[in-house]
Amino acid sequence: MCGIVGYIGTRAASSILIEGLKTLEYRGYDSAGVATISEGKLQRTRAKGKLKNLQIKLEGLEDPAKLGIGHTRWATHGKPEEHNAHPHTDTKERLAVVQNGIIENYRELRAELKAKGHEFRSDTDTEVIPHLIAEYLEHPEGTVLAEQSTLLEAVRQAMVRLKGAFAIAVISIDFPDELIAVRQQAPLAIGFGQGEFFCASDTPAIMPYTQAVLTLDNGEIARLTPMGVEVYDFEGHRQRKKPQTLNWNPIMVEKQGFKHFMLKEIYEQPGVVRTCLEAYLNTEWDVDSDRSPIRLGLPDVLLDDLQHIQILACGTSWHAALVGKYLLEQVSGIPTFVQYASEFRYAPAPLMPNTLTIGVTQSGETADTLAALEMEQTRRMATGEDQYAARMLGITNRADSSLGRLVPHLVETKAGIEIGVAATKTFVAQLMAFYFLSLELAHRRQAISNERIAELIDGLRQLPAQLEQVLESQERYVEELSHDFSQTQDFIFLGRGINYPIALEGALKLKEISYIHAEGYPAGEMKHGPIALLDEKVPVVAIAIKGPVYEKVLSNAQEAKARDARLIGVVPMNDAEAEETFDALLPVPDVDELLSPILTVVPLQLLSYHIAERRGLDVDQPRNLAKSVTVE
Ligand code: M6R
Repeated sequence: MCGIVGYIGTRAASSILIEGLKTLEYRGYDSAGVATISEGKLQRTRAKGKLKNLQIKLEGLEDPAKLGIGHTRWATHGKPEEHNAHPHTDTKERLAVVQNGIIENYRELRAELKAKGHEFRSDTDTEVIPHLIAEYLEHPEGTVLAEQSTLLEAVRQAMVRLKGAFAIAVISIDFPDELIAVRQQAPLAIGFGQGEFFCASDTPAIMPYTQAVLTLDNGEIARLTPMGVEVYDFEGHRQRKKPQTLNWNPIMVEKQGFKHFMLKEIYEQPGVVRTCLEAYLNTEWDVDSDRSPIRLGLPDVLLDDLQHIQILACGTSWHAALVGKYLLEQVSGIPTFVQYASEFRYAPAPLMPNTLTIGVTQSGETADTLAALEMEQTRRMATGEDQYAARMLGITNRADSSLGRLVPHLVETKAGIEIGVAATKTFVAQLMAFYFLSLELAHRRQAISNERIAELIDGLRQLPAQLEQVLESQERYVEELSHDFSQTQDFIFLGRGINYPIALEGALKLKEISYIHAEGYPAGEMKHGPIALLDEKVPVVAIAIKGPVYEKVLSNAQEAKARDARLIGVVPMNDAEAEETFDALLPVPDVDELLSPILTVVPLQLLSYHIAERRGLDVDQPRNLAKSVTVE
């Protein structure tokens, strides 16, 4: 996680670095720092906490430097204290480094460098990098390959020694016209301006200055000078690469009158669903037509003759994948397996033939998801057998991400940029992607009748208006209800079938932003253990939607009520049975159960939002979290 940014050119670096860090703060906000070089001096300023603390420290400091690097941190090694904030320097403070990622072999390297007299001043893994580069600057090893720059060569030699996934940027007072940037399994983009060049973990940090961007590949080192950019591999061979023109403009995302981005993003959900419907529904389709009702633009070779689907994801995307599994099995009739990417990497299931592998990641940068997909691609290719060929698909909100480059086919979720760390509108957009994919496959395989497909599409079309209805009818009530729970310590969320993942998502949202312990369970499992947790202090939120398990969930809720739990029900509107069962009602329009997750998740998002708000917490940037998890 962490965001890195670098600048070399003709303008004052410091303000460009700060503006860049503002756009990268979603990647971590434990501490921040910048280092610049001018007139043979390295100036480094760091601050604990959010970027604004660094800005306060920098206020009034005249810094004419035209070369600099910056960092916003999500702590991995070492507490979020100022001495652990990046940039880190070597012992003589002649060079500075920022890093996003983890150096796995930092312990050995630290011991080796300490034995050689290097002095360490932080508890981070990153600090070995400036010391190692300084060591190679003083004592180059073996054949010097990148002779044109001693700094480049020292960085190259140091990189070969590092194990892990990382991206770094390096500057040195001995090389005042160079900035070296490296990508090894963590994102890094290079921006090409007029006589000025940039590097950053994500393109929004670069886009205000130039749209000509080159994304480094793993194992590449870029040397940025005022004259241009050269790219090398770790063996020192020059790579011929050209920047691409990004065809979007940076949007200044504002709260538009909402107190928090999260609330604004919850309210954007009807619009997101509308956009998805416009993008992916084939308006010319009818029940008598042979053509597909869906326009995902995916090739037959990816989707035909499938025997299995496996989905890899983390966090909220994993919850969307569970809803996807339900749809792909129940609507399209394809056995589907969902795995946490972080687990799959180290214990993959034996290969199954004719399998579509789907990676779901809103950011397209989650390290575990990317690594799991890459591993799957490699092991399938290694068989050389057609039936095990890698059929890979990504579902993401960022087509320009590492996922976009890793997999050959994408479904874009079209939710627009999401700033709140807690995913809301991107989750709903991921669900939409699964509706489209399952209908596309159902149609291809004739798993359900065209009439049923038409019914579901009709239901999908109603969702934007129904979402508006939920938001309109519930906002005030949920806000009031949240007062009752500002001191609550534990919550249980129950759901069954397609709404079980929504119970998990409701619990995750509450944990993430309100720091209240919450568990999501399949309602039928409660009696197998979790029921022991219940008493009058533990509220239970149950999702009970009309369908085959409706009565069962109501019975499960009654079991909780009998243990004095306060019962909150996400239930169909105007339902007498639900009114009798629950102490508080969060009603949603009565829809086909298959489509209900798009609606049932909204009251749960609002509930967590208002509880967190009531507790006075930082809803958009909750403690210990980051929007993009680029470390393992
Ligand atoms: O970018 P991704 O979808 O791959 O992110 C996965 C998780 O890190 C993410 O969903 C996380 O759980 C969110 N903070 C949930 O609100």
